[in-house]
Amino acid sequence: MKMPKNSKKYRLGVIGGGVMARAIVTGAAGRGLLPPAAVCICEPDAAKRGAFSAEGFCVTTDARSLASDCEFLLFAVKPQTFPEVAAILRGAALPVIVSIMAGKTKGSVRSALGLDEGAKVARVMPNLPCSAGEGMSGVDADGLSEEEKNFVFGLFSAVGRAEEVSERLLDAVTGLSGSGPAYVYLFLDSLVKAGVGQGLTEEQARIFALQTVKGGAAYAEQSGKPFGDLIAAVSSKGGTTLAALSSLEKDDFAGAVSRAVEAAVKRAKEIAE
Ligand SMILES: NC(=O)c1ccc[n+]([C@@H]2O[C@H](COP(=O)([O-])OP(=O)(O)OC[C@H]3O[C@@H](n4cnc5c(N)ncnc54)[C@H](OP(=O)(O)O)[C@@H]3O)[C@@H](O)[C@H]2O)c1
Repeated sequence: MKMPKNSKKYRLGVIGGGVMARAIVTGAAGRGLLPPAAVCICEPDAAKRGAFSAEGFCVTTDARSLASDCEFLLFAVKPQTFPEVAAILRGAALPVIVSIMAGKTKGSVRSALGLDEGAKVARVMPNLPCSAGEGMSGVDADGLSEEEKNFVFGLFSAVGRAEEVSERLLDAVTGLSGSGPAYVYLFLDSLVKAGVGQGLTEEQARIFALQTVKGGAAYAEQSGKPFGDLIAAVSSKGGTTLAALSSLEKDDFAGAVSRAVEAAVKRAKEIAE
């Protein structure tokens, strides 16, 4: 007898119901990609399970039976927790795997789970703004069918933007967008402190700084203009912006950013296994 196409109980199983898992499954449910009942989350913390359950998601503490009940299995545990989970799942028949674990290569995921080289594993590097539906994810879904790729891209597009990259470039993506939100927050924090230094209250400075970064990014995206042209558009000769820019240039702002990204990429390569 021919098996029905979607014979599994859940479209998506999730191992680890933390910050990223919550962002992804609620984003996918909110966009209508997946009804909550099509998602089951394996999470040891009872309070987190209760919160998912209250939103209509299925919950479990049994990773092994979840793996056999779903079409896609998303690994959203911390990389250091993965060996413990892999030991439970080793030898089980596993569905298509999607891993967002930083530093875990597809090869290391397969080998920890006892899978052969042909086993389907997609590796994704998302970032924290997925929680606000404005994430940026690098996706290596090489080896998956078109339908499977569409599902993975749909999942991460539901919480922001998803771009295909080869696994080789995921360390660069980690250094740029994976760790990037922290650079933005450092910049925002510096702007707020500078504003307070110039007499604004912290609350005022936060509003002005946030809207400036948000508006700057929105206009850059909307106009599609090169950043150099946008900088020129704000810098009139002898004006305030040029004074600030020449100070930043003297302090090698671009060099500092470049070295920071380089350090993150180096660290990503060191911890990759
Ligand atoms: N956060 C980011 O910005 C970001 C960006 C890119 C990639 N990532 C990757 O995303 C993954 C998840 O990160 P996160 O920030 O969402 O971490 P998190 O909030 O700590 O979530 C991990 C969850 O896994 C649960 N867990 C622990 N042991 C488990 C087990 N044996 N079985 C099932 N679940 C278990 C934890 O529960 P307890 O808390 O009860 O232990 C926790 O709820 C990580 O691998 C990280 O590298 C995160």
